[in-house]
Amino acid sequence: MTEAPDVDELAPPTRTLMGPGPSEVHPRVLRAMATPLVGHLDPSFVDVMSEVQELLRYVFRTDNQWTLPISGTGSAAMEAAVANLVEPGDTVLVPANGYFGDRMASMVDRAGGDAVRVDAPWGEPLDTADVADAFDEHQPDVFGFVHAETSTGVLQPDVPELTSIAHEHDALVIADTVTSLGGVELRVDEWGIDAAYSAGQKCLSCPPGASPLTLNDRAMEKVLARESDVRSWYLDLSMLEGYWGEDRSYHHTAPITNVYALRESLRLVAEEGIEERWARHRDVAGTLVDGLADLGLERYADEDYWLPSLNTVRVPGGVDDSEIIDHLLEEFDLEVAAGLGDLSGEVLRIGCMGHSARPKNVHYLLSAMEETLDHLGA
Ligand SMILES: Cc1ncc(COP(=O)(O)O)c(C=O)c1O
Repeated sequence: MTEAPDVDELAPPTRTLMGPGPSEVHPRVLRAMATPLVGHLDPSFVDVMSEVQELLRYVFRTDNQWTLPISGTGSAAMEAAVANLVEPGDTVLVPANGYFGDRMASMVDRAGGDAVRVDAPWGEPLDTADVADAFDEHQPDVFGFVHAETSTGVLQPDVPELTSIAHEHDALVIADTVTSLGGVELRVDEWGIDAAYSAGQKCLSCPPGASPLTLNDRAMEKVLARESDVRSWYLDLSMLEGYWGEDRSYHHTAPITNVYALRESLRLVAEEGIEERWARHRDVAGTLVDGLADLGLERYADEDYWLPSLNTVRVPGGVDDSEIIDHLLEEFDLEVAAGLGDLSGEVLRIGCMGHSARPKNVHYLLSAMEETLDHLGA
């Protein structure tokens, strides 16, 4: 039998997190996580649940009753949206311009749907006319798009136009707002988004583990009228409703500490003000992209669809992306990330999210990057 392993006390390095997430966690959130547990049906926790739901409505800019944190990371919230809104046989239009559209397509397949693509090259947003053409061609029941594509650093503009096209065709719209919620302008109700999901560890600067999801009544009507059960028991919203809706009855044990963390991180957003927070991300990331340009690093995504929370620059000639990333980590305890999927080896992904979106972090990154490029002769 395995003997008791002799493992040291946990002592992770202190990193400056400027990658695609997780971002740095505010000390107040860490303190909230160190508070004692109560039961998931404790009256005090029931109050916490309501507060989290109200704070989430504020951050999503929605009045949706069906607003809750899903237990799990962003992919769990994504799967909750897809698994509940896609019935076997449904056609679902998904984007082909980034890594996370592919993940959405894979979830659609597993839900029994038929994923069809609206084409756009990686590094560009979806074009409204292409979406309209794809609707005419495929007549999808659901349209999913990625508001902030973390793999390319592209922000999808014209969201109200996209949702109008979908609604003219009687389709529901699912928005991936993982890298936009709490950092980039997002207005769920005003923009006509039927369901949106996100994650904690990006612009909310919360540890991953409880992931925001919101659905309007139209979306929830479809969920409640489904002919077949949702294929995931854990993520079935018609059952989760029992816990996060009025009854507050047991479905699964909520990740209490993650819910505490989310509550505190959302309180921080409310204190700052959502619009002020969007402006801070723009300002601080503006200094970042200008500084990277001064260092000679070429922007990958066009300025017109710049995503302040995730900035992509091309890997300069003569060096490997991993040399830059490793040097920053080893010499400066600073995390940035490599390209994903089609952009592997091509770009560096530099986040500017939540508590990491501070002038101090940006100045540190720029001087560390300058030294790194000099050191590598790039
Ligand atoms: C746009 C987007 N969608 C979905 C996800 C999945 O989230 P998670 O890794 O928290 O499961 C991510 C993660 O980076 C993301 O950036």
